[in-house]
Amino acid sequence: MKILGIETSCDETAAAIVEDGTRIVSNIVASQIDIHARYGGIVPEVASRQHLLTIIPVVNKALSEPKLAWQDIDGIAVTFGPGLAGSLLVGVNVAKAIALARRLPITGVNHLEGHIYANWLNREKPPVFPCLCLIISGGHSDLVLMKEHGQFEKLGRTRDDASGEAFDKAARILGLGYPGGPAIEQAAKSGTPCFSLPRAWLRDSHDFSFSGLKTALWHLAQKEEILANPSKVADAAASFQCAVVDVLVTKSIEAAKGLGVKQILLSGGVAANKLLTERFLNSSPIPVLVPPPHLCTDNAAMVAACGYYHFQAGKISDYDLDVVPSLSLG
Ligand code: KG4
Ligand code: ZN
Repeated sequence: MKILGIETSCDETAAAIVEDGTRIVSNIVASQIDIHARYGGIVPEVASRQHLLTIIPVVNKALSEPKLAWQDIDGIAVTFGPGLAGSLLVGVNVAKAIALARRLPITGVNHLEGHIYANWLNREKPPVFPCLCLIISGGHSDLVLMKEHGQFEKLGRTRDDASGEAFDKAARILGLGYPGGPAIEQAAKSGTPCFSLPRAWLRDSHDFSFSGLKTALWHLAQKEEILANPSKVADAAASFQCAVVDVLVTKSIEAAKGLGVKQILLSGGVAANKLLTERFLNSSPIPVLVPPPHLCTDNAAMVAACGYYHFQAGKISDYDLDVVPSLSLG
């Protein structure tokens, strides 16, 4: 069964075809990073306008690259939330129009559930339930227990900034550009984590908090006059990255041990971070799965994979499917 996935929740216009929820047939991502970089962050109106310009060529490419025709497609999966309303509207309406014109079933996918399904892509053995999912992106830092396909229980979330958002803000404080995650990771390579920055452990819960760390970095950037000194900027980036990774890794492993899950599944843009994945793989007694970096950041293959399992479970959306910008999971 071949599913066309469509993803336009934020600043990537993406379409992909995935067979049987696992095999990537095509995976096209048109990034808007260069357009938003000059503003230092995503401008929602610019993002939706750019989606409008790009979505049809991107969908066509997802079909034409593997030399497929519409008759080869069995269903459409589209992200309907969470995300930017104007951006989501483009993907959902294009998906509905194609579904109507080609008489294909359509299923709305929660972007966060989609991120988790990146762990099913191009793998010989599928993940094993129950598993603990850590979804770390620009808008979310969620710990979710997944008992079965489609069964989610949220255990923890961020109380303030998401981890990706914290990376983006930290990069801005250090003058490292946008998007912040890759910029901090790159800068940190030539630094050492020598500055002591706080970790919000929130011991009584599985929640996260990163805004205190961000504020501490801001104060550090003022006091030490590090902004004028590239090697100190690198040290500050390394110290910040280390603090975020410490908290995410330690709290997730603790939660996983307490729950007795079989695996920990990482997903979302921040899971593209090498230090994070190394720390997880080296220190977790429970097996950790992590998609390759290009499947951690936003893409439509994860949406198509998730959509396959929706169709298997008979979860088909009506043509009045609408966007839900503040949708959550579990
Ligand atoms: O999942 P994603 O592509 O989009 C959202 O759903 O938000 O995640 C984007 C976030 C951004 O905040 C970006 O700075 C962060 O993921 N990110 C990273 C890395 N690559 C992307 N954070 C840390 N290290 C990275 N290598
Ligand atoms: Zn995302």
